[in-house]
Amino acid sequence: MDTINKFDSNVVKSYGRYPLVMEAGSKRICTDENNNEYIDFGSGIGTNSLGFCDEDWAEAVCRQVRTLQHSSNYYYTSVQGEFAELLCQSTGYERVFFCNSGAEANECAIKTARKYSFDKYGKGRHTIITLVNSFHGRTMATLSATGQDVFHNYFFPFLEGFVHAEANNIDDLKSKIDDTVCAVMLEYVQGEGGVVALDKEYVDAVYEICGQRDILVIADEVQTGVGRTGKLLAGEHYGRRADITTLAKGIAGGIPMGACLFSEKTMDVLVPGTHGSTFGGNPIACAGGNVVFSKVTGEGFLDDVNAKAEYIRKRLELCTEVDSVSGLGLMIGITLKTKNAADVVKKALEKGLLILTAKTKVRLLPPLNINMEELEKGMNILIDILED
Ligand SMILES: Cc1ncc(COP(=O)(O)O)c(C=O)c1O
Repeated sequence: MDTINKFDSNVVKSYGRYPLVMEAGSKRICTDENNNEYIDFGSGIGTNSLGFCDEDWAEAVCRQVRTLQHSSNYYYTSVQGEFAELLCQSTGYERVFFCNSGAEANECAIKTARKYSFDKYGKGRHTIITLVNSFHGRTMATLSATGQDVFHNYFFPFLEGFVHAEANNIDDLKSKIDDTVCAVMLEYVQGEGGVVALDKEYVDAVYEICGQRDILVIADEVQTGVGRTGKLLAGEHYGRRADITTLAKGIAGGIPMGACLFSEKTMDVLVPGTHGSTFGGNPIACAGGNVVFSKVTGEGFLDDVNAKAEYIRKRLELCTEVDSVSGLGLMIGITLKTKNAADVVKKALEKGLLILTAKTKVRLLPPLNINMEELEKGMNILIDILED
């Protein structure tokens, strides 16, 4: 109670919070101040990819804290070099820019797309088409990019040069393409928009049209990346590698980090003085990222993610309250027949299970390394609530 009072008196009220004071976590279980346990099916919104305080991760991070916690980007650090190499080699990208969050990674992508076009075609080719129901972040540019009217309020004027096209409707996209367009930005699976995966034919058509007109494709993989969908990048489900891909959330296992990945086409756009970040590529975050990527790209890891996703889907299919299940891998949206998703989340919390909503759906984003025992226990709690 003391903690909640402290928050109420001192922290700005920009979040609706559940009355849970989280004290500690280990594996996929956390405890509150009264030592009650909670199984985590939310991963801090897809961020604690290796659960709470994974031992290898914690050791690498602590070692880095004691070795070198920060150096400005005026200098090189071996840990950032190591992580950059691992990221590029495992994703097939040529270069990376490090920042601190998903919104920042998308800002970097937006700036790069506009400069790519400016360098090649001059002024005026700056429009970025994003999709209705997308979510790209909370900064002014990424709010403007976000294709949901509910976010386009209060903070006028928003940034010029963003147009929203309906997802999975190629005719709508075509009707919005003109000579001012420099990029199309999409989430392969819209996360905050309700865990909605794009159709393969739609994604194919987007890439074809963009390829013909030298329009860049930006994949916002802030939520879908780093193994969340059962592939290292969700683009692999579609057989596609975007000109620019953004990552954040699970990339460093719970330490703030974002990354913008560039293909051969976009790797030389940013030059000294055009972009930067004081904390970008921070050694502690890179140390965490090295462990996350080593594990996620390790043998059998993603097979396990897919097996666990399959298990969850099977359990949900048998549940009478479930209308349908959306998403890919361990990014799961559940449409309910009669119950309200927000009520289900509250009940789950009371019964020791942390889950999320996405629009009107229940959303599950369990840590990628959750084990079968934890998964079964959590699913039993969820199914009991749904069938009650
Ligand atoms: C797809 C996507 N892009 C961008 C963001 C913004 O990330 P951050 O909150 O780290 O700025 C989010 C956050 O939910 C997201 O889901």
